[in-house]
Amino acid sequence: MGNRGMEDLIPLVNRLQDAFATIGQNCALGLPQIAVVGSQSAGKSSVLENFVGRDFLPRGSGIVTRRPLILQLVTADTGQVPSQQNSSFPPPLGNVILGIVIEMHMPVVGLMVRVVCLGSLAVSSNPVLCKWSLHFLPHLSLSWLSVEKGLRTIGVITKLDLMDEGTDARDILENKTLPLRRGYVGVVNRSQKDIDGRKDIKAALASERKFFLSHPSYRHVAERMGTPYLQKVLNQQLTNHIRDTLPALRNKLQSQLLGLEKEVEEYKHFRPDDPTRQTKALLQMVQQFAVDFEKRIEGSGDQVDT
Ligand code: GDP
Ligand code: NA
Ligand code: MG
Repeated sequence: MGNRGMEDLIPLVNRLQDAFATIGQNCALGLPQIAVVGSQSAGKSSVLENFVGRDFLPRGSGIVTRRPLILQLVTADTGQVPSQQNSSFPPPLGNVILGIVIEMHMPVVGLMVRVVCLGSLAVSSNPVLCKWSLHFLPHLSLSWLSVEKGLRTIGVITKLDLMDEGTDARDILENKTLPLRRGYVGVVNRSQKDIDGRKDIKAALASERKFFLSHPSYRHVAERMGTPYLQKVLNQQLTNHIRDTLPALRNKLQSQLLGLEKEVEEYKHFRPDDPTRQTKALLQMVQQFAVDFEKRIEGSGDQVDT
């Protein structure tokens, strides 16, 4: 079955993430996900925007992104690549529901996120869940969360274009300076000047590619540098990780399921309607997920390269 079939696992986990987000329990299961961590203004928002292919996050100096953001990139079965002019962007939010994303139903999601992050809300651990469909991207789920670093960390070196002439990050990128099991990928995002000058992401990716191909210190590794390669590596890692954690996740799900069933049973006797509605809906989603999950596990015997 290999990597392509295994990619179907990511949408399954996304669905579970959606379900738990509706009751504000996003982290309850420790779902497989990619955490983006980095110092202030390191370029985290810029990297994610390059992935999505459009401007949608506040960017700049200081703490600009003030809330954790869960970003699910899902491959749409049909539909157009949303264009910059398309006022219906993002497409309908589908099964993302309730409070967390109610504010997302604004004409321009980028503007809304800006408002949420810069305006009324303080720094908070409640995630903002963003979701829309793109048919030209691999499946990826990304989030900012406090997750322990470790063996699966992939180093992303931003701002290579800003290094002093005559210096380079070759040793770091070749994993010699601070070796990581998963190594490093260098990227070049848009500078503040690029953004002020409205350089679009397509142009940014083209110049990133040109940068690596023409730079004397990086051109020999150009194929393993840049945003598209980083996306590929992350997608592969996430898929492998989900496969590895399937059994434990299934067990956790099953015990959670039992707990929920018990809870529903208890509530039923004295609060027959409102309080259990959400739980029941969640329970249904989890049950459906568990069924799908079983099918995946049965079909996931093949090895995926790590
Ligand atoms: P965050 O705080 O980690 O989310 O960082 P941002 O993505 O907001 O970036 C902070 C600033 O650095 C912005 O002005 C970006 O335009 C700029 N920036 C980010 N990555 C790069 C890069 O690779 N090269 C250059 N020249 N500027 C970058
Ligand atoms: Na910043
Ligand atoms: Mg940011």
